Amino acid sequence: MAYLLKRLSEGRIWRKLYRERFSEPIHLNVISFFVFLFGSFRKKVDYDLVLRPQQAFAILSAADRAKEQGFSRVSILEFGVANGAGLMNMIEIANKVTKATGVEIDIYGFDTGEGMPEPVDYRDHPEYYNVGDFPMNKELLKRSIEGKAKLIFGTIDTSLPKFIESLNEQAPIGFVSIDVDYYSSTTQVLDLFKTNAKNFLPLTYVYFDDIFMPHHNKKCGELLAIDEFNNEMKYRELSHHTFFINERLFKNAHWIKQLYYLHVLDHPHRFETIRDRKAYVLDNPYLDFEGNKKQFD
Ligand SMILES: C[S@@+](CC[C@H](N)C(=O)[O-])C[C@H]1O[C@@H](n2cnc3c(N)ncnc32)[C@H](O)[C@@H]1O
Repeated sequence: MAYLLKRLSEGRIWRKLYRERFSEPIHLNVISFFVFLFGSFRKKVDYDLVLRPQQAFAILSAADRAKEQGFSRVSILEFGVANGAGLMNMIEIANKVTKATGVEIDIYGFDTGEGMPEPVDYRDHPEYYNVGDFPMNKELLKRSIEGKAKLIFGTIDTSLPKFIESLNEQAPIGFVSIDVDYYSSTTQVLDLFKTNAKNFLPLTYVYFDDIFMPHHNKKCGELLAIDEFNNEMKYRELSHHTFFINERLFKNAHWIKQLYYLHVLDHPHRFETIRDRKAYVLDNPYLDFEGNKKQFD
């Protein structure tokens, strides 16, 4: 609550609220007020009332999907932790998601611990970032998250291979938040998505933080890394769900365009042919009989 109040004291936050929230239909903002006061956690996620709504949506959806697949644990990762505001928010959300779904959540954060490394070239957007930007208050953060999330230090190319070896298929990765700013760092993160299909949920949520500023484009930064990944990988695809915006109540929210889906096309789940159920029968309102399936959901 104290953090929320601090954020609300920033002019930038009010400008964002004005553009993304108060420009939406008035009835939704009125209903939001009551959801904020009396709504369940799930309802608050629907109404974008949780701090960093992208994390709330993705962590809750990952837990729901894990449960559908018969898992009781799921892993979520943040690449680029800095002083830990995002990671600590993930911890808070994960507690609420566990209460709502019963699914346990393992949380990992990756960072150099010393801020941004040296950029490689123009593709890393040196016009935006400096070496050493976003350092971490290491000891304080480690103490604050002890037992709640694991911090993994080092540049991602050195820390990731060991982490991949330690992955547990019984706690597949369901959400990855990527906030490492550079093209070169993002390509290192995306190597994770080239590993064993069972390391992931068949549909894993991926948030890209650094694709929204005026200089961002498909020949640099995270957008270039995504394109190269998709071109290289035959059975993996990082893409937008085109109709996702139609499913959200607040359509002006930035994060809708920053949330990607990792489709793991070689996941065993994509090969299952379900034969142990009755055939779906569709209704026809013009004929006098009732099917067993009203619509595909
Ligand atoms: C913008 S900050 C992250 C902010 C954080 N997500 C938050 O919500 O407060 C970017 C972070 O990415 C980290 N980073 C960038 N490239 C990296 C790399 N190759 N290996 C490890 N960390 C990296 C930097 O150390 C920096 O702390």
